Amino acid sequence: MAAAVDPPGYIEKLYGRRQGKGLKPRQARLFADLLPAIAATRPTQGAKIDPARFFDDRHVGDVWLEIGFGGGEHLAWQAARNPEIGMIGAEPFLDGVGKLLGLIEDEALKNIRVLHGDARPLLESFADSTLGRIFLLHPDPWPKKRHHKRRMVSPWFFAETARALRPGGVLRIASDIPDYVAWTLMHARGAPDFEWLAETAKDWRLRPADWPQTRYEAKSIREGRAPAYLQFRRR
Ligand SMILES: C[S@@+](CC[C@H](N)C(=O)[O-])C[C@H]1O[C@@H](n2cnc3c(N)ncnc32)[C@H](O)[C@@H]1O
Repeated sequence: MAAAVDPPGYIEKLYGRRQGKGLKPRQARLFADLLPAIAATRPTQGAKIDPARFFDDRHVGDVWLEIGFGGGEHLAWQAARNPEIGMIGAEPFLDGVGKLLGLIEDEALKNIRVLHGDARPLLESFADSTLGRIFLLHPDPWPKKRHHKRRMVSPWFFAETARALRPGGVLRIASDIPDYVAWTLMHARGAPDFEWLAETAKDWRLRPADWPQTRYEAKSIREGRAPAYLQFRRR
């Protein structure tokens, strides 16, 4: 199934910072030595690839994608507990990629591939039905109405995730911003390829055991916000 709509403008429009304090010496070393060995590079425009090919040194039972992994805590946690899964993460924030590289080295994780950049062209490059899970945790809110078109969740996003997920695959989205949760559910209702898995309020208010907290989320809870944990299954 082809994406029905154009993606939101690519990475030149970023909500937050692309670069923070800069890399510490260890992170700079990991950028030079480790990242090239585990980079998930995009194919030339228009070509479709099987993301399993990023793991050609090992057998992976399935491939999962995390979009905007921040400091990488969730990604590293999933990779450590699911060694048979190939985990791909995409994040444009330099310091976040540096943090994830540190976690990969500390925990000797072998099943992670990283794109330092915009997740959207990477997602578009994946062949149909090649991913088992997609995670989008606390996407940038773009609260001003005139910026809503830059939100990651969009008709394009539901069309592309539905295309790349295999039937039965799961899309997980977290947000602590009520307006973004409502926005996500509104777009999900317009996405017939997905079914929302919540049957009672507990199903989206309580964090599932296999869904670890990120630093962003811990701060949000300390500040009194209540995250929603949304799970959609690809029909
Ligand atoms: C609010 S932070 C949340 C980070 C992390 N998921 C967490 O829960 O801690 C949103 C993240 O999305 C990233 N992001 C924004 N646009 C992106 C894009 N087009 N592709 C990949 N990541 C993106 C940002 O750099 C930022 O790290």
